Amino acid sequence: MTTKPAPLRRPIESLRRRWRAFRSGRWLEAGQYKGNYRRMDRLYLLEDPWKLTSERERERFRLANEIIARIAPDCGALLELGSGEGIQTAYLQEVASHVIGIEVSPVAVGRARRTVPRAEFLIGPAEDAARILGPRRFDLVTACEILYYAPDVEAIIEAMQTLAPRILVTNYEKRGRLLAHHFEGPGWSRLDDIVVDGTRWLCHLWSAG
Ligand SMILES: C[S@@+](CC[C@H](N)C(=O)[O-])C[C@H]1O[C@@H](n2cnc3c(N)ncnc32)[C@H](O)[C@@H]1O
Repeated sequence: MTTKPAPLRRPIESLRRRWRAFRSGRWLEAGQYKGNYRRMDRLYLLEDPWKLTSERERERFRLANEIIARIAPDCGALLELGSGEGIQTAYLQEVASHVIGIEVSPVAVGRARRTVPRAEFLIGPAEDAARILGPRRFDLVTACEILYYAPDVEAIIEAMQTLAPRILVTNYEKRGRLLAHHFEGPGWSRLDDIVVDGTRWLCHLWSAG
């Protein structure tokens, strides 16, 4: 048996680990990216890293729109946190007259601007939304599938609460259960889950008093 020279062993093992994680889908797991927004940007080396153009996700977007039509009928300005490549943004435009996305990945924003030209996209972390947006205010903020990447969920919630009288949060069930305690207390209510082909997303609404 040949053994590799010691200086090569560690980088080779690291490459092997990354390859195994890539093949198993673990590279998309939230824990790997918590607060590491540069790493999230690198995910966009590939287009649509979360497969958001799949029929399952498109159905999720349609069902999220049904919720929005109920909780914010006649929605004017909608702020979408974590707008990615604009795939959900295109749906959100059906239930709001103007959509603004905030997204931490410049690469994703570049693609979103090309595919959803009617929407507006700003680059930056949701934690800085209040600073990025200045005096602008919205009828609704959505935080769909982003909070489990945040090192400080409360900081994002506080930022959202200054920007709109309503917040819609959706979280993929497995990750959402760990965050549920953030959506309790004054103003918070649990909405019906979104369920598509047995996959479940937990939905919460915050409304100002
Ligand atoms: C899983 S995708 C969700 C996209 C879409 N909202 C949805 O529900 O399918 C998460 C997106 O949020 C972005 N993101 C994660 N944390 C963020 C943060 N703190 N601020 C802004 N964008 C963030 C990621 O770069 C990624 O584009």
